[in-house]
This record gives sequence, C-alpha cells and structure tokens, in this order.
Amino acid sequence: MTEAVSDGLAEAEFPVARGCPFAAPAEYGQLREQAPISKVRLGGGGEAWWVSRHPEGRAVLADHRFSSDRRKENFPLPNGDATVRERFRAQPPSLIGMDGAEHTAARRALISEFTVKRLATLRPRIQEIVDHFIDEMLATEGHPVDLVRALSLPVPSMVICEMLGVPYADHDFFQERTAALVRRTADPAIRQRGFEELRAYLGELIDHKIAEPGDDLFSRQIARQQAEGTYEHANMVSLAFLLLLAGHETTANMISLGVVGLLNHPDQLATLKADPDKTPLAVEEMLRYFTIVETATSRVATEDVEIGGVTIKAGEGIVVSGLAADWDPGVFENPDQLDIERGARNHVAFGFGPHQCLGQNLARVELQIVFDTLFRRIPTLRLAVPVDDVPFKTDAGIYGAWELPVTW
Ligand code: HEM
Repeated sequence: MTEAVSDGLAEAEFPVARGCPFAAPAEYGQLREQAPISKVRLGGGGEAWWVSRHPEGRAVLADHRFSSDRRKENFPLPNGDATVRERFRAQPPSLIGMDGAEHTAARRALISEFTVKRLATLRPRIQEIVDHFIDEMLATEGHPVDLVRALSLPVPSMVICEMLGVPYADHDFFQERTAALVRRTADPAIRQRGFEELRAYLGELIDHKIAEPGDDLFSRQIARQQAEGTYEHANMVSLAFLLLLAGHETTANMISLGVVGLLNHPDQLATLKADPDKTPLAVEEMLRYFTIVETATSRVATEDVEIGGVTIKAGEGIVVSGLAADWDPGVFENPDQLDIERGARNHVAFGFGPHQCLGQNLARVELQIVFDTLFRRIPTLRLAVPVDDVPFKTDAGIYGAWELPVTW
C-alpha cells in the first residue's frame, strides 16, 4: 500500500480506544468527514482501509469480493499481536472465517438452531436462568456486588452451555481463557496457552459426545456430519470454539454496558420502566450505541473493488468499523444521544451481509429478558462507584466492563 495515511491522523492507531466510555472516538468523526473510506495505521501493525460511513460499510460487508479468511496475508487483525495470525493458521477456519459456497453450506447447517421460532421456545428457560441469578444477587450479604460476575457473565454462559451441551460447571475455565484471548494487553504466551487449552478441552468434550451423544447442538452437528461423511474433528473443534466464545463473551459485555448506559441516562431508564414493552427497542438502541464488536467486520479484497470513491486493490485489507458506521450522523440523527425510542434496527452491531451474526436472535432474547427482569425486580439498582471509576474494556477486542460494582 503506497497511499499516505489520512491527513492529520498519521499518528493515530486504529481502532482508537474510547476515551469517554460512552462516545465513539473523536478521530472517527474526523475521518468520516474527510472521506467514507481512508487508509489508516492499525494498532496490531500495518495499514488497512478504514470504512467510517454506514452505507459504504454495508456495501463492503455485502460484497462477495471481500474475503473473511483470517489466514490470508494482509487480513487486518487490528487487535492482534504477531501470534494471532499464527493461531488462525493453526486451525481450520470456523464459520466466521469461511467464504462463498463453503460458508453458505456451513451456515445453512446451523441456522435452524438460531431461528426466531426456536429462540421463542427457549424463552421460559432463559427467564428461569435470569431469575435464578437475580435471586442469588438479592440473597448476597454485603454490598457492592460485581454485576459482571453475578449476572452479565453467568446468564449467557449458562444459556450457551445448555444449547451447545457444554457443562456449565466448567465456566471459570472457559471464561478466564476467553478473557485473556480478547485482552489486547495480555501476555502473548498466556493468550497462546489459553487458546491451546480451550481447543484441547473442546476436543475432549467432542470425543465424549461422539461416544455418548446428548440432546444438544454439538451432538446434532456431529451426527449430521457423520451421516454425510463430512465429519472432521479439527473442523468441529473450530466451530465449537467460535460458538462457545461468541455465545457468552459478547452478550455478557452488552448486559454490563446496557446497565451502565441506562443508569447513566435516568430519563431513558424512567421511560423504559414506565413502559417495559419498549425493551426490544431499547435493546436495539443499546446495541447501536455501544457497538461492542467493532472490528470483527474486517475483510481482505480478492480483486480490485471500487467503493466510496477509492479502489481497494486485490490483497488489501479493509476494516468496516461498526462503531463508526453506527455513529454516522447521515443515518442516525444525533448519534451521540442514547435514545431508546429511536428504532435503530438498521445498525451494524451484528454486522451485515452473509456473515451477519448467527446468534443475534439469541442475544436479543437474552438482553430483553435481562433488562426487563433486572429493573423490575431491583428497581433501586445503582452504580456503587462513579461511572468514571468503572474499569471499561478499552484494552480488549470486544468492548465492555471488566467489573461493574452495583448496589441497591
Ligand atoms: C450482543 C451480542 C453479540 C454481538 C454484538 C455480536 C456481533 C457479531 C458480529 C459483528 C458478527 C459479524 C462478524 C463478521 O462480519 O465477520 C458476528 C458473527 C457471528 N456471531 Fe455474533 N454477536 C453477538 C452474540 C452472539 C451469540 C450469542 C452467538 C451465539 C453463538 C454468536 C455467534 C456468532 C457467529 C457464529 C458468527 C459468525 C457468523 C458467520 O460468519 O456466518 N454471536 N457477531
């Protein structure tokens, strides 16, 4: 890549950390005003095209000429140290890293597990799980309580464990390793060890499911692939890895941030409490406002593509910044305002196009039930520390909070 990095932002590394816990970095607005797509320096090293406007972002994500294969040279890994690409190369790609017909077939095989209809049948069980952890919170002696450990992590972890057929008793093991994997500043050796231990754990779990199938997603996928003659152990481990990680870490962060966001905007919380039917709308707005998975929507061009007034050459990397797109004032009026009645359904917090989040219906149901139940059952919930003292995940690939002390 030979073009100069964008004017005035030559020193900045992207993604830029959110200085204010609630605002997209000012650099994103600056860049957006210059052009929809610009060349930037990446935090993980190297350069890539950076898409800051919503229409161009969706256009890139819908275009099959951009590949999701993270093993390819120049695939932008903005959150990675040098070992990240090696990790992607050391395992067969899971759904998120596949392209074309291979991706379509793998996705089709999973989609029935995540439909709106199927998720509706899980609602009562998710409600039970949420109530169980809120009961435990209410029974806690001594305040404050860390909401991350009491509710944000346990709810999506238990739900995804039951869906996949992973023993929930192992939650400390996989949560700790996931936290290290997403933490940019974690020691690379610890990240690598966590990666290997998680793969080994899931490998053994899958062997066990082959011997003793259960009524769960992993067992159904194994049986289907064995019947088709397509079963490969390493591929199944990659899929298990993706579903377990994506299934708990993302929603957990959205629960924490949604709670802080609402507590910090009492007018919005009051609107929600007065009319809980607005919860689905509020969830969409919180997804937009925080856009926690900012750069998973990275791609590499497989041929020259003209878009947003520039030519992305074959082999060049491109990052669709979900956060920049979801704060595009051309699409969302006053994007810096949390407005739960906005109707923000066209956000790209779940991505867009063929790779749009497979678990989005699950995440929506979990978030709706959590916000609805939490503020109904603990209406006096409040932060136990000033919001500026909350340790936000400015050093992680998925935004959130490491801890969230609350009281009531
Ligand atoms: C608030 C919660 C969540 C957010 C913000 C989120 C965000 C995203 C985003 C932005 C992508 C697109 C990546 C790309 O374009 O390459 C994605 C893909 C994916 N997500 Fe989620 N996700 C969430 C919850 C979940 C859950 C609960 C699951 C359940 C297993 C899940 C499973 C997946 C999978 C399997 C993919 C890959 C889909 C594909 O490549 O076809 N996610 N997610």
